[in-house]
Amino acid sequence: MDFRTPELDQLTATIPDAYFELSAEDARDRYFADTRMLDGKQLAHNRFRTNPRTMVDHLLDQLALTGSEGWLDLGCGNGFVAEQIRPHLADGRIVGLDIAPGVLNAARTRMAGVATSCEWIEGSAEELSMFADGDFDRVTAIYMMHYVPDIDACLREVARVLAPGGRFILTTDRPDSMVEMFDVHFTVMKQMDAPRHLFKATPKARISLTNGHDQLAAHFTQVDLRTWQDQLRFSAVGPFLDFYAAHNYCCAASQPGDGLEPGFFTELRERVGEHVQTVIDRDGYFAVTKFTGSFICQ
Ligand SMILES: C[S@@+](CC[C@H](N)C(=O)[O-])C[C@H]1O[C@@H](n2cnc3c(N)ncnc32)[C@H](O)[C@@H]1O
Repeated sequence: MDFRTPELDQLTATIPDAYFELSAEDARDRYFADTRMLDGKQLAHNRFRTNPRTMVDHLLDQLALTGSEGWLDLGCGNGFVAEQIRPHLADGRIVGLDIAPGVLNAARTRMAGVATSCEWIEGSAEELSMFADGDFDRVTAIYMMHYVPDIDACLREVARVLAPGGRFILTTDRPDSMVEMFDVHFTVMKQMDAPRHLFKATPKARISLTNGHDQLAAHFTQVDLRTWQDQLRFSAVGPFLDFYAAHNYCCAASQPGDGLEPGFFTELRERVGEHVQTVIDRDGYFAVTKFTGSFICQ
């Protein structure tokens, strides 16, 4: 499914090249201290997508499971992915690792009582010394590698713990994914004369579908790319604003604690909502186009 249009291509210029970097402490103690950010994004994708095949459907193709593999999921979050993969690993082993105890506990609770062996480990993805060489048939890093402080060290460790013939799947976005949302965001920030330091792209730009290949090729002999698209369509502004707020807080790193008046964010949200409402009134919905995909590494 291809949602690309010339109008969409024109918007990509609005996303800055500079991007935010988040510390491991921010990821653990702020953005993923609880599951709200993740729950909001997962709900929006499931409810408003137009591609009938989900991210997990694509992931299952790439994992090519037979049912008894050992799988390490780095940055496993609240177990949303693990819950759906688990039936395909009835005789396998699942290890979820995440830096944030808040979301990790949610994964543990979600998966309590399943017969597949599950282990939940709190830690940072570049520190895998608790695992032996070749311990896992599959390793995944789903929308998480951009948060890891030392990506190169992490990839070296992944290559070590991967069994011969195993697969590492890294899922991330293209830098221009969700360009319609960022276009409104940066347009309103310009209108509000927001501080320059807020004009940055999301941290996903650290390892995206565009620049990820070379980083991975340093550690894996074969790196293949599979891409797909989706389009979230919001016909009411409220659910869109919930989705936007999750990204705004997470990716633009723009929270009142950053030295801005809390009123700034109220106004930003209101003005973004007005723009989106105009589009909904005109077109019937506001579209957010996702350009996403996975690197499959062996
Ligand atoms: C956007 S969420 C993705 C969660 C899950 N993979 C999914 O797709 O639903 C990113 C996750 O990476 C975790 N994370 C951030 N930095 C990490 C690190 N250095 N090591 C391990 N996990 C990390 C966060 O706590 C969060 O759960």
